[in-house]
Amino acid sequence: MKFHPVFLAAVALTEAATTQRRTPKFATVVTPRTAQDTAYDFIVAGGGISGLTVADRLSEDPSVSVLVIEAGPIDNNEESVLIPGKYFPVPYLWLPLLTVPQTALNGKIFNMPAGKVVGGGSVVNAMVFVRPGKDELKDWETLGATGWDWNSLLPYYKKSENFTAPNAAFAKAANFSYIDAVHGHDGPVQASYPNFYFEGTKNWFEAAVSSGLRPVGDPNAGNGAGVMFISTVVDFTSRTRSHARLNHYEVAKTRPNYHLLPGHSVSRIIFDRKKAVGVEYLPTAGGALLTAKVKKEVLVAAGAIHTPQILQLSGIGPKKLLDKFGIPVVADLPGVGANFHDQPSIIIPYRITNNIQPNTATLNENATYDAEQRARYDQSKTGPYVITRGLSQNLALSPLRNTTSKWAEIVAAARRNDPSKYLPADTHPTVLEGYKAQRKLTLKQYEGETPVAMISWDTANSNRMYFLRPLSRGSITINSTNPLLVPLIDPQTMVDPIDVDLIVASTLKNRQIMMQPMMKVLGPEEASPFGNHITDEAELKRILAGVVEPSSAHQCCTAAMMPKNLGGVVDPDMKVYDVKGVRVIDTSYWPMVLTSAPTATTYASGEKVADVIKKEYKLKSLCKNGKSSC
Ligand SMILES: Cc1cc2nc3c(=O)[nH]c(=O)nc-3n(C[C@H](O)[C@H](O)[C@H](O)COP(=O)(O)OP(=O)(O)OC[C@H]3O[C@@H](n4cnc5c(N)ncnc54)[C@H](O)[C@@H]3O)c2cc1C
Ligand SMILES: *[C@@H]1O[C@H](CO)[C@@H](O)[C@H](O)[C@H]1NC(C)=O
Ligand SMILES: *[C@@H]1O[C@H](CO)[C@@H](O)[C@H](O)[C@H]1NC(C)=O
Ligand SMILES: *[C@@H]1O[C@H](CO)[C@@H](O)[C@H](O)[C@H]1NC(C)=O
Ligand SMILES: *[C@@H]1O[C@H](CO)[C@@H](O)[C@H](O)[C@H]1NC(C)=O
Ligand SMILES: *[C@@H]1O[C@H](CO)[C@@H](O)[C@H](O)[C@H]1NC(C)=O
Repeated sequence: MKFHPVFLAAVALTEAATTQRRTPKFATVVTPRTAQDTAYDFIVAGGGISGLTVADRLSEDPSVSVLVIEAGPIDNNEESVLIPGKYFPVPYLWLPLLTVPQTALNGKIFNMPAGKVVGGGSVVNAMVFVRPGKDELKDWETLGATGWDWNSLLPYYKKSENFTAPNAAFAKAANFSYIDAVHGHDGPVQASYPNFYFEGTKNWFEAAVSSGLRPVGDPNAGNGAGVMFISTVVDFTSRTRSHARLNHYEVAKTRPNYHLLPGHSVSRIIFDRKKAVGVEYLPTAGGALLTAKVKKEVLVAAGAIHTPQILQLSGIGPKKLLDKFGIPVVADLPGVGANFHDQPSIIIPYRITNNIQPNTATLNENATYDAEQRARYDQSKTGPYVITRGLSQNLALSPLRNTTSKWAEIVAAARRNDPSKYLPADTHPTVLEGYKAQRKLTLKQYEGETPVAMISWDTANSNRMYFLRPLSRGSITINSTNPLLVPLIDPQTMVDPIDVDLIVASTLKNRQIMMQPMMKVLGPEEASPFGNHITDEAELKRILAGVVEPSSAHQCCTAAMMPKNLGGVVDPDMKVYDVKGVRVIDTSYWPMVLTSAPTATTYASGEKVADVIKKEYKLKSLCKNGKSSC
């Protein structure tokens, strides 16, 4: 295969250049040379949530060697990473990661948010920590993800987390409860509820309830539909972010068998016939290609955009695409890079003429207040700094029936549409079959209790909405054999007109909540380009086309766990079809996007597949009682 001169130009990479990065206390950051000279049992491509979870668990067995290759650097414990009120950790993103022009969004291009750092999305994300509903996981199973229903995943949700219960009086006042039996208490991921809320939160909660939505209780018990107070992946005691580098890497005290190579990008998997025998990688900044040998498996965990890129560069993907770039076909799997979806989002700006002070904007607008609250956080670990800055504290997850009285009409219209009509032009017949199966289930979800819209108010000047179950599907395809170039990212956002109907319905639902008595007293007015006077649906559609963002950073489903005849790429053990020694372990394996943001499920699925692999190779685990085998 041909490579681009940009990265073939050999850049002398000194060992000092790699090791000058901050070295974690207990870790073994290796040099490219060490990686090249070692034959590893497992190589993990991508050190995000899934990659580090699995690497940590596999390396519990001291006889097993694991190398994680991560494109990004190690963070420096910046306050913007650790302190929720100092959010947003800007340097640790893939920039730019641009989409192709989006035809339904006025031809605009967008940046796809994704973490590029050891810990991946967990280092930069908004820390919302929620699980999906039982109904959605059931639908995964229907699509062929056998063993991925609620009951199978629950032990792993629990294993992954250390949930610390809130103060009971606070929980009551903030309108949430929890069911202890569904939570874990000795896992590595620290989960808790914020111990503070702005007063305006109450008005919105009450308004959402009076609009016809019920309070949820514990959203992590398997049904999150309704209004909830948000739980977060924040350490209860220190009130700092619990991210994957801390909870699945630095915990690995003195594990010489757990290697990490930051700042390097995997370019492809090397095969001997159909068996993976190594990976090829290079400095993310550009430089010579290097290789590392693998004895057992390559675990691809580069996120739903980069994982299909790596697979395609390795010869695993649609034959037509691979032929176009002269890449020898190792496995002709048309589903690699197909079925791409995310949760489009919008922000509706507001003027609140009679708002309650302080609110989330006060932090940005009043330096005295901001300083006071920072001091409060430092001294007593409470106040607005325990909340991700700018994030709302309540969410309304609204089923379609509760969102619009036109729900039945919308579903009927969707049923009449030809499923193939809005898919990318050259969609493979097997991928189309898989989509038909997904569409059938999604329309059932629209008719049931599965939420379609996530609506929130930040207590100040913006309402954010996520569209949870789009019908549109896009694709990720390489545009070059240069692994450092961005693939063609085409989410095809809003291409299916039913998605537009859903967004209009959600926009009107948001307006309904904001006009309930408890919000109305605050004098909310939609600001430009919206406006309460705009009620014409065609006009709303025109406005929405200008403001919809394709992503909530919940990219998924580009190497789906479905049968091959439905365009699937991995089996229920996450093994890639038609090759030996390759699994896809990140959110690419999801058959369909879930209501909940991905973090909780990604940690849990990492735990689950680690157990599958350990069982297969008869690996040891660390035990709670300190014994080295159990
Ligand atoms: C800004 C933002 C906000 C978010 N907010 C939330 C939230 O509040 N709650 C929630 O649950 N989820 C949230 N998410 C989503 C969540 O963080 C991701 O879904 C999750 O991290 C996915 O885990 P993963 O293991 O699939 O991939 P990631 O965690 O993204 O890890 C993939 C890793 O692979 C690396 N990589 C990519 N290509 C290569 C290559 N070629 N070689 C080597 N390494 C490579 C990347 O740099 C990255 O570190 C947010 C994400 C972002 C970006
Ligand atoms: C769980 O969190 C509590 C509260 O912060 C802490 O005391 C405890 O040590 C944690 N347990 C684990 C296993 O991390
Ligand atoms: C809790 O819910 C009740 C009833 O809907 C409401 O009156 C109250 O303001 C809410 N409190 C918060 C903090 O949202
Ligand atoms: C949706 O509305 C119905 C009928 O009013 C109600 O019974 C149900 O609880 C609501 N669902 C949610 C998730 O709020
Ligand atoms: C700014 O915050 C301080 C401290 O909370 C408060 O005393 C002051 O009134 C605020 N100023 C304005 C203009 O709201
Ligand atoms: C795709 O590749 C072609 C040919 O090299 C190039 O002209 C085009 O700009 C690339 N597209 C993107 C979005 O990178």
